[in-house]
Amino acid sequence: MNVLVTGGAGYIGSHAVQRLLRDGHTVLALDSLLRGHEKAIDRLRPGSGGRLIFAKLDVNERAGVERLLREHSIDTVMHFAALAAVGESVDQPLFYYRNNTSGMVSLLEACSAVGVERLVFSSSCATYGVPPENMVPIPETCPQSPISPYGETKLQGERLLRDLAEGQRRAKKPFAYAALRYFNVAGADRTGVLGEDHDPETHLIPVVLQAALGRRDGVSVFGTDYPTPDGTCIRDYLHVEDLVDAHVRVMDALKPGDERAYNLGIGKGYSVREIISAVREVTKADFAVREQARRPGDPPRLFADASRIRMELGWSAQITDLHEIIESAWKWFRQNPKGYGA
Ligand code: UFG
Repeated sequence: MNVLVTGGAGYIGSHAVQRLLRDGHTVLALDSLLRGHEKAIDRLRPGSGGRLIFAKLDVNERAGVERLLREHSIDTVMHFAALAAVGESVDQPLFYYRNNTSGMVSLLEACSAVGVERLVFSSSCATYGVPPENMVPIPETCPQSPISPYGETKLQGERLLRDLAEGQRRAKKPFAYAALRYFNVAGADRTGVLGEDHDPETHLIPVVLQAALGRRDGVSVFGTDYPTPDGTCIRDYLHVEDLVDAHVRVMDALKPGDERAYNLGIGKGYSVREIISAVREVTKADFAVREQARRPGDPPRLFADASRIRMELGWSAQITDLHEIIESAWKWFRQNPKGYGA
């Protein structure tokens, strides 16, 4: 297939590019480089199986995206490009709506103009907001009611796709999409080429690993009074390679007219304190831990019921050991202490 990967120089997008190239696809990777790293793309060039084209372009630049889609006969899109920090989205909501929602409208206009047939969208469990107690683990049928602008932009993305699919059906144009609702993605490519490099970094596992490396003066625990066994938030941490594998399976399964939604997680949750303990065990490093107030926009408990994708497509996470997930990220951080800037 000829696949456009938006956000192809970002954390998850670059891992998807790597996998698609290994599978022999032609990949057009787009990235504005606002948060992505061209060096991730450079690292993928040698020995990559398929054909890789990279363009520095924002998905909001509709005409440029449309031209590239035509030039490279793109039939399938994996749309990763987005801002993805819940706390930042509360502080800077319009930045999120501009990048995530407007960017997606623009991308879909270009896709629709050239007749892209399949789209796999990075949605999020943040679209569920605070799920009712009796719906954790969270199934796809859980009501979607986000509590952060970030989650809202992802829900808007799903709605855009639903409405576009209806329009394409009426116009008798083939189109299929899947919204993949990620839980917390973690870890790094185990061959050691790619990893996570956000600036600012706000995600728990990389933050704690940076503290273990001595690159920050400790870790803050945001909220210790949640209604959870140890008072800290619980999340479902999924290895990035498993996440990408789900994308490939979904892409291969999509048939014209399909509208799918799948939760992607391992189905088990860990608290913030459990993550900190696991990082201490893996790294054998010690660092300061400060208890702080809750961070706005954080639901107490999120972990997936991922049985729909297991039953329909036979996917389930293969790397389910938390230590193994953290090990892969630790290897990346040790070998690349300054990320791609090293
Ligand atoms: N946390 C801390 N200290 C930190 C960083 C995080 O205590 O320094 C806590 C957060 O408050 C939260 C948990 O660790 O309770 C996980 O936080 P992350 O920022 O790592 O992840 P989020 O759950 O907020 O969000 C992530 C991605 C989103 C995705 C979401 C799905 O950023 O893109 O997971 O749950 F949608």
